[in-house]
Amino acid sequence: MAKLILLTLLGLGLGLIRNHRVSFKKRLNAAREVTPVELPNCRLIKGIDTGSEDLEILPNGLTFISTGLQYPGVKSFEPNKPGKILLMDLNKEDPAVLELKITGNNFNLSSFNPHGISTFTDKNNTVYLLVVSHPDLKSTVELFKFQEEEKSLLHLKTIRHELLPNLNDLVAVGPEQFYATNDHYFVDLYLRSWEVYLGLAWSYVVYYSPNDVRVVADRFDFANGINISPDGRYVYVAELLAHKIHVYEKHANWTLTPLKKSLTFNTLVDNISVDPVTGDVWVGCHPNGMRLFSYDEKNPPTSEVIQIQNILTDEPKVTVVYSENGTVLQGSTVASVYKGKLLIGTVFHKALYCEL
Ligand SMILES: *[C@@H]1O[C@H](CO)[C@@H](O)[C@H](O)[C@H]1NC(C)=O
Ligand SMILES: *[C@@H]1O[C@H](CO)[C@@H](O)[C@H](O)[C@H]1NC(C)=O
Ligand SMILES: *[C@@H]1O[C@H](CO)[C@@H](O)[C@H](O)[C@H]1NC(C)=O
Ligand SMILES: *[C@@H]1O[C@H](CO)[C@@H](O)[C@H](O)[C@H]1NC(C)=O
Ligand SMILES: *[C@@H]1O[C@H](CO)[C@@H](O)[C@H](O)[C@H]1NC(C)=O
Repeated sequence: MAKLILLTLLGLGLGLIRNHRVSFKKRLNAAREVTPVELPNCRLIKGIDTGSEDLEILPNGLTFISTGLQYPGVKSFEPNKPGKILLMDLNKEDPAVLELKITGNNFNLSSFNPHGISTFTDKNNTVYLLVVSHPDLKSTVELFKFQEEEKSLLHLKTIRHELLPNLNDLVAVGPEQFYATNDHYFVDLYLRSWEVYLGLAWSYVVYYSPNDVRVVADRFDFANGINISPDGRYVYVAELLAHKIHVYEKHANWTLTPLKKSLTFNTLVDNISVDPVTGDVWVGCHPNGMRLFSYDEKNPPTSEVIQIQNILTDEPKVTVVYSENGTVLQGSTVASVYKGKLLIGTVFHKALYCEL
């Protein structure tokens, strides 16, 4: 009898593992091949070869790019080198990147590992750059003041909090105030690989201000990019492994409530950017997540960009604007528009600039 029970349990266990394997492959979209969708006049940005995980274009065309991310379990072409913040001026004919100098007394440059970034411009036109960093595999938000003349970032402060344990991305709503995603997997992607496998959906969104920190949305299967509508009333969250974008209404007390049913895609949605003019949502995606998490240069990670128009309505229009098999661009994470052009960033590879 005991043997029979044991065998039954074993059978159930194997069945569960099989189910999880099937669902894991689905969550990674492992079977997906891309059908190419091209854009005219694309060129790679000189000086970006080790990633451009996140980028933000200011209304005046100045662009911040985080580069050199070391994400445990994900490829890096320059392991053990600290990351940087690059600046680019999209008004230039042939824009080049420049490394921003970082100044400030208490900032350790050698452990800088920049990930998601966001800017906040105050009433005096001072630009603050908020950067998720992972010094020694921990999570911090580094607050900088952008000094345009000097082409530098003045480090003002490091923010750490127990509700910000494995940060991925953030969107600033003040110089020291933001919404951030905790993906749960940064730091221990290996240790926690069984949790990814089981899809425990343990990642969440936090609202942070110096005197009020709380979880405002939870139970995501890897919460990734987060951004806000131009009028500041809606917050968008990308749920990478569920292939979904969630739309929340933001209230005066900073809580978020779902506005409508989430949108589902046939691709892993990474970072979200919002066109400040039209409100269109642009998403850098991984059509096939398996290729991202187990790197093989003969079968590289693929890239895809989708545009969502009228996201607040019942019938948003979704367009695949760019799709590529990794020969040109590996593992796109973010795409943002400026004056009829599209800038596409990647986790650990290059950056591409195309006409629309
Ligand atoms: C993601 O990328 C966009 C596009 O550049 C950028 O505006 C934003 O800061 C990044 N992070 C968030 C919070 O979405
Ligand atoms: C700066 O970071 C490096 C790399 O993590 C570490 O070895 C070093 O001790 C740190 N320096 C200080 C002053 O904390
Ligand atoms: C803006 O500048 C004025 C004058 O220098 C200063 O008094 C004020 O505190 C500044 N406001 C912010 C938000 O920094
Ligand atoms: C925040 O505001 C919303 C909308 O007004 C309300 O439904 C909710 O109860 C408030 N929550 C808290 C924690 O005050
Ligand atoms: C990707 O597409 C290009 C052009 O269509 C083709 O030459 C190349 O062999 C493909 N590479 C892979 C890895 O599928």
